[in-house]
Amino acid sequence: MEQERRFDEERILNMKTNQYSGFHKLTMEQRAAEVAEFSGLTEEEIGRLTNPGALTNEVADHVIENVIGTYQLPVGVAMNFLINGKEYVIPMVLEEASVVAAASNAAKMARAAGGFTTSYTGNIMIAQVQCIGVANPYFARQNILHHKEEILAIANEKDPVLVKLTGGAKDLEVRIVDSQIGPMVVTHLLVDTGDAMGANAVNTMAEAVAPTIEKLTGGTVKLRILSNLADHRLARATATFTKEAIGGEDVVDGVVAAYAFAAADPYRAATSNKGIMNGIDPVVVATGNDWRGMEAGVHSYCSRGDHYTSLTRWEKDADGNLTGSIELPTPVGLVGGATKIHPAAQACVKILGVKTAAELAQVIAAVGLAQNFAAMRALATDGIQKGHMKLHARNLATVAGATPEQLDAVVAKMVADKKVSVDYAKEILAGMQ
Ligand code: MEV
Repeated sequence: MEQERRFDEERILNMKTNQYSGFHKLTMEQRAAEVAEFSGLTEEEIGRLTNPGALTNEVADHVIENVIGTYQLPVGVAMNFLINGKEYVIPMVLEEASVVAAASNAAKMARAAGGFTTSYTGNIMIAQVQCIGVANPYFARQNILHHKEEILAIANEKDPVLVKLTGGAKDLEVRIVDSQIGPMVVTHLLVDTGDAMGANAVNTMAEAVAPTIEKLTGGTVKLRILSNLADHRLARATATFTKEAIGGEDVVDGVVAAYAFAAADPYRAATSNKGIMNGIDPVVVATGNDWRGMEAGVHSYCSRGDHYTSLTRWEKDADGNLTGSIELPTPVGLVGGATKIHPAAQACVKILGVKTAAELAQVIAAVGLAQNFAAMRALATDGIQKGHMKLHARNLATVAGATPEQLDAVVAKMVADKKVSVDYAKEILAGMQ
């Protein structure tokens, strides 16, 4: 009763925001009801997330091959996100404890300086056409460029609907790639795929222009496929974390030093970027997008220089505050693919409240930055095990059979005794009988 009343008071204060302190203390039903209200979900729509089986076997059987059933993961929501002045509740689908809590906490700290600011370069995907056996590749390159309008017209004939919506194929780039089988002439078709991720559209276009490329180069076209290094579809996000909000200037310096490590050392960069993907992939999955494509895009983008490096940058500003920035390829969409097929993905898109692929991409960038900040701050101060162990203890206590009433006491004892295991949770529970 006491908890419900306090929560109601907070809601009255925060009616138009997603800031619910103590949200995690609500029951799952209460949380779902709050999210449904915030996002305007109908009972049927929120039911797709709260009840198992939203993806029926019948539908699943048409998504991939040799289907034998479906597989469930938890959906959590990260709170407190303020992006370009708009409040977002972020649905996250994943199996790792502490990620959702860390994102929410980071987003809360970012609010002191106005939250996240983002931008986007546009919905431009690249389709590659590989041409080998060209005697004079530099001449051939220019010949392709001389015929740019003709090539774009051939590509666009394949998708009049997309052309009407976005203009379709808009530009060409031609690169000479040196390889062990000699130089290749690689043509990039730059296609505005609108709110779709656009794999099918660009692959069809790449196949359509191949004969013309062969004629213009005298070579042989081999691969015709999109590139996941979608560096014309970049989302950017920045945030300032005031030194007061994050625990002082030592913490600022600690995060900057942690970033310097990731920037300089690929071994550390891999782990730092994994932490970023802890935030990004769950949103990509929740919205029915292709997380493998997203991963490939991010890691290749981090490998453009002379070594693999950090996706984010962290600096101290003139006032001693911490500023973070991220820029990443975002091959994601809102139409087509699993986003439209999976009923739970549609509900997640509605919770997120994004109306375009551009908006989704920018939210993803902000979540990645927040997640990285949370990890860096923890690593630069207490280390991550303290928070992790508490959440891990909750999971293990539940597995050991603790009831909601017993949970807090069992967790507190496991953490205090530094013995976090299912066996010890069972021992504590037996002592409570
Ligand atoms: C764990 O899933 C992610 C971290 O290792 C990220 C990092 O080290 O920055 C905590």
